[in-house]
Amino acid sequence: MKKYFFLLMLAAATAQAAPFAKGNTNNGKKLFAKYECSNCHERKMGGDGSAIFTRPNRKVHDAGELIPQIKFCSGIVGAKLSAQEEQDLAAYLNQTYYQFK
Ligand code: HEC
Repeated sequence: MKKYFFLLMLAAATAQAAPFAKGNTNNGKKLFAKYECSNCHERKMGGDGSAIFTRPNRKVHDAGELIPQIKFCSGIVGAKLSAQEEQDLAAYLNQTYYQFK
């Protein structure tokens, strides 16, 4: 019993430490498609554009830099994202590419 309690506490601690825990990754994925976020990234990087998130000289180095970059890019396309939508996009990009803990 004690052992399970320990595992439960560990799981809870890990979940809390995850950045963008309030972000909805599924909605982030939808927003990414809706605003055609890959559009410019494709032109810059080729392929499906996702290499922009994994390139060695990428701009985003920690969780704190992701939201400002999302604000910047969505600003260019005139997307008016809510704070929640920014979190959703960040959660999606973090889960799929960055994997900041
Ligand atoms: C108008 C063109 C354009 C659109 C549309 C665009 N981006 Fe970008 N994005 C860029 C460019 C250019 C860079 C690379 C900036 C650099 O290398 O200095 C970039 C880089 C990024 C990065 C950082 C990648 C790294 O180096 O770590 C993120 C995150 C990002 N974009 C998210 C988004 C999201 C989310 C959307 C959709 C809301 C979006 N972008 C739409 C042009 C665009």
